[in-house]
Amino acid sequence: MAPGYHRLGEVPSKRHVAFRAPNGGLYAEEVAGLEGFGGRYSILYHRFAPTRVMKVAEVDPVPAAPAPAAESTLRHHLLRTAGRLAEADQDGELDGDELAGRRWLLFNADVRLALSAFGPGPGRLCRNGGSDEIHFVHHGGGRLESTYGLLEYRAGDYVVIPKGTTYRFVPSSGGNRHFIVETPGAVRLPRRYQNAEGQLLEHAPYWERDFRRPTEVVANDDPTPTDVWVRVGDRAAVYTLDHNPLDVVGWDGHLYPYAFSIHDFEPITGRQHQPPPVHQTFELDGAVICSFCPRRLDDGPDVVTAPYNHANLDSDEVLYYVDGSFFSRRGIESGALTWHPKGIPHGPAPGVAEASIGKTHTDELAVMVDTFRPLTLAAGAEAFDDGAYPTSWLPD
Ligand SMILES: [Fe+2]
Repeated sequence: MAPGYHRLGEVPSKRHVAFRAPNGGLYAEEVAGLEGFGGRYSILYHRFAPTRVMKVAEVDPVPAAPAPAAESTLRHHLLRTAGRLAEADQDGELDGDELAGRRWLLFNADVRLALSAFGPGPGRLCRNGGSDEIHFVHHGGGRLESTYGLLEYRAGDYVVIPKGTTYRFVPSSGGNRHFIVETPGAVRLPRRYQNAEGQLLEHAPYWERDFRRPTEVVANDDPTPTDVWVRVGDRAAVYTLDHNPLDVVGWDGHLYPYAFSIHDFEPITGRQHQPPPVHQTFELDGAVICSFCPRRLDDGPDVVTAPYNHANLDSDEVLYYVDGSFFSRRGIESGALTWHPKGIPHGPAPGVAEASIGKTHTDELAVMVDTFRPLTLAAGAEAFDDGAYPTSWLPD
């Protein structure tokens, strides 16, 4: 389920009827749908048929397909990626766009996790035909331009882009940093947050009005030949269309890009420690995404507010540290990422459990990705690895 029906721009009163432009020509109707048209879909009306291709050129995918790192020891990892922006800046990489700035960190068949650091220029037009993308915007902001219209985004947003969307990021400044999850399945809001009609329930940590949809169509009427970088899995091609594809004059349906701010997530708290599922934000095929937000801590008598040692037996657990001090860990800075594979318990740093008793609030802000299948460290991510992490739970 997505955040519900939305309609933008001009659409005819009925589906599949003649819908004419002021010059008398027909607009080109397109139905974009999931699961063999048995899932969510939208109907879009283009000025130019989206099939008007002048040229197809095979290209190496950007970014290149993830490869396994040489380091494959089964152990906890701490990836200190905070310096990534500075490093990219030094290498002159920030002149590139969001796609060029991506670096794979971890992957399996269900998800690929990347970090992108990129500059202020408008990105290339691209389309991920094989995966939904979630961009957690750590730094930066701007406008996502897509066939579904304009969507303003800012730091703290999850920007969810369904597969098949033609889009580009147009940042409003430099210094952009996105934590990205790609999944060949769909991104959904958890079923248990909804009633039988799909409306979000009162106990959900967000509501329909917290989701921001595209606000106006782009509706370009531009016959300039335009390149679109299309990717599916590890294959890519540049399609040259005989028009600018951001030409949709109207659309409606349940499939579209949207933004949800992590700051609009309303944490659920109690007298005793609440388990990780209360932080769940999205449901993927083979993974979940959770938001750890500033909140009141458990206030029962003598309660240990730090999380207990835990063995999440069916999941690899990835935590991306956004802001604040993550109180169960020590020495972890904003922009770092931990990966706790299944099979090895983890827990609070030494002394944290004792120190947490009586603590009333936490200002931690983090994004968690739990995957059901084991993850693989991507080649290149070893450069961020802090090899001392697996033994960091020993007492001082
Ligand atoms: Fe954990």
